[in-house]
Amino acid sequence: MRIERFLTGITTSGTPHLGNYVGSIRPSVGHSLRPGVESFYFLADYHALIKVEDPARIQRSTLEIAASWLACGLNPDRVVFYRQSDVPEIPELTWFLSCVLGKGVLNRAHAYKAAVDKNTAAGNDPDADVNVGLFMYPVLMGADILMFNAHQVPVGRDQVQHIEMARDMAHSFNHRYGEHFVAPEAAIEDHVATLPGLDGRKMSKSYDNTIPLFAPREQLKKLIGSIVTDSTLPGEAKAVEGSTLFQIYQAFASATETEALRQAYAAGISWADAKHLVFERIDQEIAPMRAAYQDLIDNPAKIEAILLAGAAKARTIATPLMSQLRHAVGLRPLQTHASTTTKAVKQALPVFKQYRESDGQFYFKLLSDDGKLLLQSGAFASPKVAGQTIVALQTNGITATQASPVVLKNGPGVTDSDIAAALQALQIAKEAKPA
Ligand code: TRP
Repeated sequence: MRIERFLTGITTSGTPHLGNYVGSIRPSVGHSLRPGVESFYFLADYHALIKVEDPARIQRSTLEIAASWLACGLNPDRVVFYRQSDVPEIPELTWFLSCVLGKGVLNRAHAYKAAVDKNTAAGNDPDADVNVGLFMYPVLMGADILMFNAHQVPVGRDQVQHIEMARDMAHSFNHRYGEHFVAPEAAIEDHVATLPGLDGRKMSKSYDNTIPLFAPREQLKKLIGSIVTDSTLPGEAKAVEGSTLFQIYQAFASATETEALRQAYAAGISWADAKHLVFERIDQEIAPMRAAYQDLIDNPAKIEAILLAGAAKARTIATPLMSQLRHAVGLRPLQTHASTTTKAVKQALPVFKQYRESDGQFYFKLLSDDGKLLLQSGAFASPKVAGQTIVALQTNGITATQASPVVLKNGPGVTDSDIAAALQALQIAKEAKPA
């Protein structure tokens, strides 16, 4: 079974609210615990620079978002959790991709087009107040995704166009320089609830109607108290359809609890009592995480260390891939033999060799494309298990070394990132031409 690689970014421009929790953090953390998935979550701080001018806000938001995800149970040992700006290969790849993508594609990007339409309607210059960052947004996002050869990108409908552009970039690059990238797919999150905000519209920073995820208990109570309701009096039956309070409750409560509130609405519960119930139910879920959040916010050095370790993990993939890409486009040491064509020549690939020793046991080794020993297995009693271990490495890359039933030793002078690069080359070659 191939391990599905999921990747998603969170722009560091604000404070996480209950809508982010219900729509993104809670389902993502749950998803990251499933077997057979490998998840990459990152703080998209380069993206934040496009719209946030206040440096203190960028820093604060990065801290709050990282603390929120960790407090909500994201396990940095199981996932790759990092900050975009700690991976310098990403902006480098952005440049490579911008050289294979037609400008016209970016002219049609929704966010840019909306800005142009607005300016045109107002009789202004079409590009008034539009920075090049906004225009390039989809390319940076493409680099985020292609850098890690993610298969699935969980996004809302508004981001689907960006994923299509990333596929475009992957195809154009592969066409020109050989198979380096997997074309990603959008995993559209239609099933996850969008939470209404205080005024009944979608909870969003831009409507100023949010409830901060980790508001202190008293503030949470006050905010829930300020959710819009209608003017039905205590004792009068209340409608659940269109009730913001009811919808918010539903996102936290079990089916039985929701049914009980439905009946209480029909029986004429007062808005004050209903709000109290909703507040207590939400606080019950949030309170234990709030303590963890506060502890993290008070220890920014701890979060910093987690993010740097995450970036180091991310770079075991990004660094070798980037050197492969630099070579592919012709940014090469001058003494290396120059390829005469611009088209990719068929690349030699690393190989696995399986064999039996005189001790009767089975072994394998991984050799580089030029025959150097990269990885040596210990002894397997069964040739079948040795074969399965090879398949796991071929399919799932370096992460499969952890699951190997026998010790795997690096060849002399070989680093984990050399092995990751070799396995990645095999993986990409395999996905490029399905058997
Ligand atoms: N554009 C995304 C958003 O606004 C954030 C983002 C940046 C992202 N890079 C990404 C999402 C890569 C998925 C994959 O929500």
